[in-house]
Amino acid sequence: MSTTAIAKLPKDFTWGFATASYQIEGSFDKDGREPSIWDVFSKIPGKIGDGSNGDVATDSYHLWKEDISLLEAYGVKSYRFSIAWTRIIPKGGRGDPVNEAGLKHYRKILEELISRGIIPFVTLYHWDLPQALHDRYGGWLNKAEIIQDFVNYAKVCFDAFGDIVENWITFNEPWIISTLGYNVGVFAPGHKGNTDSWIAGHNLLLAHGHTVKLYRDEFQSWQKGTIGITLDAHWLLPYDDTQASKDAAIRGLDFKLGRFADPIYRGYYPESLKRIVGDRLPAFTEEEIALVHGSSDFFGLNTYTTHLAMDGGNDENMGFVKTTHTKPDGSQLGSQSAAPWLQTYPPGFRSLLNYLWKTYEKPIYVTENGFPVKGENDIPVEDAVHDTDRVEYFAGYTNALLEAVTQDGVDVRGYFGWSLLDNFEWADGYRIRFGVTHVDFKTQKRTPKESAAFLTKFFKDHIET
Ligand code: NOJ
Repeated sequence: MSTTAIAKLPKDFTWGFATASYQIEGSFDKDGREPSIWDVFSKIPGKIGDGSNGDVATDSYHLWKEDISLLEAYGVKSYRFSIAWTRIIPKGGRGDPVNEAGLKHYRKILEELISRGIIPFVTLYHWDLPQALHDRYGGWLNKAEIIQDFVNYAKVCFDAFGDIVENWITFNEPWIISTLGYNVGVFAPGHKGNTDSWIAGHNLLLAHGHTVKLYRDEFQSWQKGTIGITLDAHWLLPYDDTQASKDAAIRGLDFKLGRFADPIYRGYYPESLKRIVGDRLPAFTEEEIALVHGSSDFFGLNTYTTHLAMDGGNDENMGFVKTTHTKPDGSQLGSQSAAPWLQTYPPGFRSLLNYLWKTYEKPIYVTENGFPVKGENDIPVEDAVHDTDRVEYFAGYTNALLEAVTQDGVDVRGYFGWSLLDNFEWADGYRIRFGVTHVDFKTQKRTPKESAAFLTKFFKDHIET
């Protein structure tokens, strides 16, 4: 008797969980680390919803081995985490000293991961710019200085860890860095205004391009690694059948995704971006765009939700596209998470993967995907571990992933759930929990939730052996 074969992801498909330095490490002043813009920003009254900061976070600076044991228990193949620039070069700049203690810290984590058969994916910049560089010359707004300082920091990391790291991500979510940090001002360094974010975003692209060039020229041939960038995108569906809504969905994608993806994968800024932002959008010289174009070996994607798009509103960062989860008939697109911006909608994930593959033709790694359960912060751990809504979310999204790969032929190489642990969720503090592992922030006790077991089983059952 024959059994129906279940669709499977290819044998070398990788999966795991992701974290970021400031969200988990704590030990903000240990072993030579100096402040980043998030240390300073989070301590300004009113900036973080629950008045907290990352001074302690999940104490992973000390509990890193326990965290790796969790990863091992979950049976992951890979782990994505970020290096804190301020531990490696505490003051950040080219002339500033490198901190041996910082190098040692990450080296031991990398060695431990590898000894347990877990492949590291290392993000160089997950938002924690050295405060000293911000004070010295304005951080991401100073093209002449910041690019060279970032490349210098990256080089120190390639030198120190490149023999054992094969997967590098330069930047995490440049749209968020520039928009929330330099336009809306709700993320560090808290700038407001409608010019700086276009400059910051442009400089991030250039810093990425220069870093990749350095890696390819000096390291890639003997270290055999890959290097790329992680962009954030939500799928956009037209709000209704009108042409204006259809155009809005396209324009919104240009602004959210194309703003960074088009220069990198196609060699130019989207036309709609140039038209709307005008001369506040810096132009690339021929040399610069040659550097940026083609500067990513893969497409790193952070994605969480789908929005309905319509024309209008006053958000220039989205190309004057308004987004909502409420359909014209008043019903909701998906089920609501603890974060206002996030509802479940798996078909949008499948569409987005198809769109990226068709548009940019690069292998995709889903570097983040996850769901904060509504009300989870208000219940005891005994209840929080039964995270049914998160399991449902992951069931829908992993199924959409499977369909995209096995039915649509999209080249997705890996998937990382956000996050390994409940952690410091930026301006929301600790109130919004994304972890597949519950963290008691008073005792630092870690307790696996059902969603961790769900993902373990899903990938066990759905990757070819
Ligand atoms: C994207 C960011 O990279 C991560 O730091 C954040 O915690 C998650 N999204 C959830 O908002």
